[in-house]
Amino acid sequence: DETTARRKDAHLDLCATGDVEPAQNSTLLEHVHLIHCAMPEMAVEDVDLSTPFLGKRLQAPLLLTGMTGGTERAGAVNRDLALLAERHGLAFGVGSQRAMAEDSARAASYAVRDVAPTVALLGNIGLYQAIGLGVDGVRRLMDAIGADGMALHLNAGQELTQPEGDRDFRGGYRVVEELARAFGDRLLVKETGCGIGPDVARRLVELGVRNVDVSGLGGTSWVRVEQLRAAGPQAQVGAEFSGWGIPTAAAIASVRKAVGPEVRLVASGGVRGGLESAKVLALGADLAGMALPLFRAQQQGGLPAAEEALKVILTGLRQALVLTGSRDVAQLRQRPRVVSGALKDWLAAL
Ligand code: FNR
Repeated sequence: DETTARRKDAHLDLCATGDVEPAQNSTLLEHVHLIHCAMPEMAVEDVDLSTPFLGKRLQAPLLLTGMTGGTERAGAVNRDLALLAERHGLAFGVGSQRAMAEDSARAASYAVRDVAPTVALLGNIGLYQAIGLGVDGVRRLMDAIGADGMALHLNAGQELTQPEGDRDFRGGYRVVEELARAFGDRLLVKETGCGIGPDVARRLVELGVRNVDVSGLGGTSWVRVEQLRAAGPQAQVGAEFSGWGIPTAAAIASVRKAVGPEVRLVASGGVRGGLESAKVLALGADLAGMALPLFRAQQQGGLPAAEEALKVILTGLRQALVLTGSRDVAQLRQRPRVVSGALKDWLAAL
């Protein structure tokens, strides 16, 4: 309905210019140190970043994670970022398709196949909307945009900070199990900035989930976004919890330890460059994921600015591989690395 679309535009405004990445939050990636190799004995062009995802082959292990849809402005973001992903052989996700599930007139803002015919494309819906839609309803959303897979997002922290948000989180695993059975490896389960830890990841995998985006703490905070929209006591609780979550570095390293190598893992949440992408790949991610930086670049300077931001990221990622003497991610993972500070404490507990 109208309120869903209006809330989404308020979210976009806040994410474009607001203080949605609380400075005191950290991914803890600053505690991961890749080790310099003074004699790489390879050329930049020897780096092979190609990786399989959703039945396709990416040229680099990067997912532009789901953000938006439902309004004209959102449609422009989707088309620009999908086009970029197509050009550079990356994966792309649209944002929550709730708006189009409620009103099919909004479907056009999620349609990117005309500009991104071959991109690895993810649809997106919230866990609790999926309960209402059922397997068939979720499948219709995926098929309507010609997606290769469906992202199911978890956001209990955001919902509890949102005055109109959900307050009852029962029945989640049952829905995940049904969706995993129906979608197989076309389903991806993601958080939205508070992180998926090893216990939840293990349970998801037991239920048949084959793709997980840990989306940890340290980047966009949806609790903070809702705090900025809320007033009174709700805003105070939001302020208290805007640092809540599992830091991305802790989430990805612990989840990789908890699940087998066959599970495709995405690490998003505050990953902000090529070197940080290399760090999450070294910690066990198959793909790095990013939302806010590319959204902001697109809002500030359209497609050219977003493409420039992306090129900086891709160049940095290749550089990190060369400077660790790694031709691919498999070699990068075998290199020694230093884990220091608070990240060590997190990993000792997880
Ligand atoms: C998001 N995110 C998100 N996630 C999701 O599953 N469905 C959605 O509709 C949205 N919407 C959305 C809008 C905007 C403007 C942003 C910035 C983010 C969450 C996103 O996919 C990601 O999990 C987190 O933002 C963490 O990554 P970054 O932003 O720190 O790189």
